[in-house]
Amino acid sequence: MAKKNVNKVTIVGCGPGSKKYITGYVMQQIINAEVLIGSRRLLSLFPDADIDTYVLNNNYKLLITRIVSLSKTKKVVVLVSGDPGFFSYAKLIVDKIGIENCEVVPGISSVQLAFAKIGRTWNDACFMSLHGRSGKLASVVKKIMENEKVAVLTDNSNNVKLIARKLLGVGLKDRKIYVCENLSLENERIREFDVSSILKVRVSDLNVIIFLDED
Ligand SMILES: C[S@@+](CC[C@H](N)C(=O)[O-])C[C@H]1O[C@@H](n2cnc3c(N)ncnc32)[C@H](O)[C@@H]1O
Repeated sequence: MAKKNVNKVTIVGCGPGSKKYITGYVMQQIINAEVLIGSRRLLSLFPDADIDTYVLNNNYKLLITRIVSLSKTKKVVVLVSGDPGFFSYAKLIVDKIGIENCEVVPGISSVQLAFAKIGRTWNDACFMSLHGRSGKLASVVKKIMENEKVAVLTDNSNNVKLIARKLLGVGLKDRKIYVCENLSLENERIREFDVSSILKVRVSDLNVIIFLDED
């Protein structure tokens, strides 16, 4: 029979990238951690942590096995970007080991900061992610056609230009597009475009795109 976890696995939201957006409670969990697991980008925020660290390389199956085994004897803290409840692998971990064996600690999502930067509310927005999901392009376009405010997470290949070309293809030219790049980081940049002009510019890989139907 499988041994029960001794320690709860703590999954913390590290915010959009800058340490200034990490909450005090999340920081406390990280300070008390015996093992830290996360992407290279997030682990690099804590270069002085003198504890075991494991880099996440999209090998989620191996990751879960490792988390379960490590948490039998150690306090394992898993770092996720933004908020764990918003398009993160926290779901995989919670589904696999059960919420009774986890503590999920909220963080500030990249979309929260994006909406704050453009001075709009997000309670009336729709959200979609194209990050690692090329099959979702048609649903994203449909969502933008049917809603006044849509925020989309993208990656380097499933990007805003791909969406803009599809929008032009269905005759939708009148959307304001906010490109919110590298939020909270030194090279943060917030720019506004229309559907045609976005095709002419270079956009960083790390971005939140907000589509607005307004004058
Ligand atoms: C796997 S999702 C994780 C989202 C995260 N859980 C959140 O709440 O922000 C990764 C995507 O979030 C967005 N993202 C994360 N950090 C960002 C940042 N600092 N600036 C802009 N976009 C960011 C990008 O669209 C990126 O492809």
